[in-house]
Amino acid sequence: MTLPDWSTIRALAPTPLTALFNQDANRVSMLSADVAGIHFDWSKTHLTAEALSAFSALAASMGLASKRDALFAGEPVNVTEGRAAEHSAERGEGAPESVARARAYQARMRAVIDAIEAEAFGPIRSILHVGIGGSALGPDLLVDALGRDTDRYEVAIVSNVDGVALEDAMDRFDPKTTLLAIASKTFTTTETMLNAESALAWMREGGVEDPYGQVIALTAAPEKALEWGVDQTRIVPFSESVGGRYSLWSSIGFPAALALGWNAFEELLEGAAEMDRHFRLTPLEQNAPVLAAFADLYYTQARGCETRAAFAYDQRLKLLPSYLQQLEMESNGKSVTAKGEPVTYPTAPITWGGVGTDAQHAVFQLLHQGTHLVPLEFVGVIEAGDALAEDHHRQLLLNMFAQGAALMAGKAHDDPARAYPGDRPSSTLLLDRLDPRTLGALLAFYEQRTFVNAVLLGINPFDQFGVELGKQMAKAADQGGLDFDASTTDLIRRAFG
Ligand code: F6P
Repeated sequence: MTLPDWSTIRALAPTPLTALFNQDANRVSMLSADVAGIHFDWSKTHLTAEALSAFSALAASMGLASKRDALFAGEPVNVTEGRAAEHSAERGEGAPESVARARAYQARMRAVIDAIEAEAFGPIRSILHVGIGGSALGPDLLVDALGRDTDRYEVAIVSNVDGVALEDAMDRFDPKTTLLAIASKTFTTTETMLNAESALAWMREGGVEDPYGQVIALTAAPEKALEWGVDQTRIVPFSESVGGRYSLWSSIGFPAALALGWNAFEELLEGAAEMDRHFRLTPLEQNAPVLAAFADLYYTQARGCETRAAFAYDQRLKLLPSYLQQLEMESNGKSVTAKGEPVTYPTAPITWGGVGTDAQHAVFQLLHQGTHLVPLEFVGVIEAGDALAEDHHRQLLLNMFAQGAALMAGKAHDDPARAYPGDRPSSTLLLDRLDPRTLGALLAFYEQRTFVNAVLLGINPFDQFGVELGKQMAKAADQGGLDFDASTTDLIRRAFG
């Protein structure tokens, strides 16, 4: 298989950002894009016209255009598992038969929502969603980001196997008016199944006569849900070709569709589809996910950056960094190519981040003056979500803009402890407003950017074998069937005697 040749990219002159702005009056327009209600600005990164053409050549040599077509055509792009990655079909962009299947599953999802609204499941007021990883992070982000002004249903999303998490959620709800949604693509994940058992017991103990009548399963393994005891009519399936961390568009998004309403869920899908079409049809040098991936790869391959940080300057997006961590690190944290050859270059950087302005008072010291070069991503929303906006939102956004400017400009000082080196890169994503459509577009942008990174790195973003070993060892330890090293044996003895 063709391996990426980074030599041209590594040889690019590291011209300081301020000099790049001085050299080119059109820098902002060359390095910005407007798609689906989001303004993207990469002008404060070190990308140049020369870098763009080097990356375009690399993209051509790695077959980006044909791999993108293969993704949307439903071809088995997940080569290690021999399957397609059809999350885009959930939003209507994909092979016609896959889109039709997704639509059929959505019709079923909608019918269950209608039934709940019509009180066919009893007087449901809250939903306790148990799921982990992709079966939790996406829906949690949606409900948290968009649910502020709705009071249709209370939602609790429990992922951790730590009973404290489940107890905290159960304490909020009345079992008689709670719907238990078991969200698991495989319907075998230990944490989720244990949380589901305990939640069912809580319903039983809380006097619910037919607890199974208040259980739904969101899964690609309906036969396993049936075996577990979920009634056929309450299983809301999705396709096996939708990967866990790409599954919020499927029935895994159920709590969001229920809490926000079906129209909002449809708008989310439409916004994502708009971004998909942009990704599919726009030339590479104006293509938002592609440009973002070029910047990502410039910093990992040419500047040795080991992390990237995303800061949401909007409280409603506080869960975005956690969602991005799974999307990017589980997808592209690999050491072999799609054909299994060891890579000789870094793959995904470590994604981390937080919310502005809190992060400014905690971690920005290192970003301004530390020894690590960290490309930053700022995500802000022009329309405020609060009634205090005149003062608060203005301060919030001005802080975000000022941080990007300060990181880039730096400041000289006679005292080295007080000097700012500057030339620190950032990109800015500015959403017109935070509504379902724009959030859908934003999340689809991140998915497609992750895909472009993977194609240029020559890796498969759609498997995650790296998470298996620890799970298997925990299971084996539970069954007493594993001889651990001396340290682990000692720790187990201390905990359990
Ligand atoms: O831990 C890895 C993983 O397989 C994720 O990719 C996935 O999102 C999560 O576990 C949950 O899996 P499931 O939906 O099958 O319970």
